[in-house]
Amino acid sequence: MGNFNRAQSHVRSAVSTILKERPPEVWELYHEHSKLRRGDREFLIRIGGFFGNPSLQALTGRVFKVYATAPKVRLDGIADDESHLERLIRSRRSAQAWSQTAVPLPAVARLLKGASGITGVGTSTSISQFFRAAPSGGALYPIETYAALFRVDGAMEGLYHYDARENVLEQLDRESGLRARLAGATAYPGVVGRSAFLIMLTAIFERTTLKYGDRGYRFALLEAGHIAQNVCLMAEELGLGALCVGGFYDREVEALVGIDGIDESVIYMVAVGYKAGTGE
Ligand SMILES: Cc1cc2nc3c(=O)[nH]c(=O)nc-3n(C[C@H](O)[C@H](O)[C@H](O)COP(=O)(O)O)c2cc1C
Repeated sequence: MGNFNRAQSHVRSAVSTILKERPPEVWELYHEHSKLRRGDREFLIRIGGFFGNPSLQALTGRVFKVYATAPKVRLDGIADDESHLERLIRSRRSAQAWSQTAVPLPAVARLLKGASGITGVGTSTSISQFFRAAPSGGALYPIETYAALFRVDGAMEGLYHYDARENVLEQLDRESGLRARLAGATAYPGVVGRSAFLIMLTAIFERTTLKYGDRGYRFALLEAGHIAQNVCLMAEELGLGALCVGGFYDREVEALVGIDGIDESVIYMVAVGYKAGTGE
């Protein structure tokens, strides 16, 4: 808990420093404003209003835009057989509960490489340019990938950073209780805490805002989405399940990961493991 408090106060002092040094950019203000805080009344009232309103709830899974009077081109039944990728896309469903079977390290390795690994080297300039599994605006790759391994056969429980260039996991923290602390920093501690490992995607915004300004902030979010989708499809390919998680308390996760929440901030999480009833 000591480390957690120290990191929290580091985050707070970093926030005040940056705000004093120069006026914040629009994207910085937005990002800060969109962070989820424990007990955020406004957010809880909004969510409560949604669940308390049957007609709003009836929208779940039923929101389609339709041009009712437009001429239509029928698409059903005209395509060739389903490909392997199409089958993966069709069968992907978020995991809701996990089996307690450990995931083998080679599966984690394949998932990470398929999510955000190096897939090619560019030779158009005198300097090597590394290209990765997910597209990136200007090939600036603002997203960093971390993995908290809870139940992985062949690797110690702990917090790791994925170094895409070397294709290695760098162990950052092996303190006991990491799983409970990370799961506790989400709004779904039961689900996240029982997964086999947790992918956390962070953004180093400056890599892209330096070139694209506010639009670079948008690119960073989009790119985290590309990588998360790769994680989901790789999980499906490997017989695993995945659950994307947007419900986490940003500053608490940032403190646990050891990032300041300003230069580098957490964007997204994906919990992974064998789905309940599989992998035994
Ligand atoms: C941006 C985003 C954030 C999400 N956050 C959460 C979350 O915090 N908790 C959760 O249980 N599911 C979360 N989900 C999963 C959705 O609930 C799920 O994708 C949706 O119900 C559709 O079901 P499917 O993924 O099985 O197709 C999130 C999905 C997305 C795309």
